[in-house]
Amino acid sequence: MVVTGAGSGIGRAVAEAHIRRGGEVFALARREAPLRALAALAPARVRWQGCDLTQPAAVEAAVRALAAWRPAIAGAIHCAGDFFARSIASTTPEEFTRMWQVNVYSKFLLTRALLPLLAAPAEAPPRAVIYTASLAAHHDFPDESAYASAMHAILGLARSQDAELCPRGIRVAVLSPGLVRTELTERSFPPEIMRSAMPPEKMAASALYQWEVIRTGGYIAELLHVHSEVRENES
Ligand SMILES: NC(=O)c1ccc[n+]([C@@H]2O[C@H](COP(=O)([O-])OP(=O)(O)OC[C@H]3O[C@@H](n4cnc5c(N)ncnc54)[C@H](OP(=O)(O)O)[C@@H]3O)[C@@H](O)[C@H]2O)c1
Repeated sequence: MVVTGAGSGIGRAVAEAHIRRGGEVFALARREAPLRALAALAPARVRWQGCDLTQPAAVEAAVRALAAWRPAIAGAIHCAGDFFARSIASTTPEEFTRMWQVNVYSKFLLTRALLPLLAAPAEAPPRAVIYTASLAAHHDFPDESAYASAMHAILGLARSQDAELCPRGIRVAVLSPGLVRTELTERSFPPEIMRSAMPPEKMAASALYQWEVIRTGGYIAELLHVHSEVRENES
């Protein structure tokens, strides 16, 4: 399994849970120290590469390194991403572009590069590609239009790619977390908001459930998590 954003947060929890179940992980993110620490959990079953997933050449190099280790793979769980909350007026064009690059374009780049490794005979179990989007792909939150638009785009990317790749035995699905306690949210939200955050291990359990369903011939197009604060505001 390829896991992006595997050094922290949801990606780290997904990678760790898969390793603890005896699985193999090819871990990607920019910072190398957290990836090295992850690999120390099971050195024989983990490989990693420091990689900026918004850069086509870096993505191609990472996939070449992966192919040298495992020329065929079961799939990928994409957890790399970023977030900021800012009004329309205070979001610069560069920041808006960057938001889409890291959250949407990077997923296109990696899936495209992985296609040869995802190819398999018709009788092989389906391969799984899972994209992390967000509750913000469905809800409107003020000051989050750059982020929310990118999250909406991930749904479109996944649905269209699934329609295209399903006949080749590759299923593309989405995991949409609500608020999860990670580096990203700890630096973005005050403690009173973080009170309702879910642990990343819960998202890992969901991602791996979705993964298992796909690998055994079923399909969950999207798992959407709603954290308690949103429920309270709705009631
Ligand atoms: N936490 C939440 O409440 C929540 C809710 C809904 C959706 N999400 C989504 O879930 C995803 C993961 O978020 P998280 O909360 O787990 O945050 P996180 O702990 O900050 O993890 C994000 C990961 O992405 C990696 N990354 C960022 N930019 C990258 C790039 N250009 N190339 C390669 N790797 C990159 C980071 O590692 P490096 O910095 O080392 O590259 C980091 O490991 C994000 O897409 C986020 O939008 C999170």
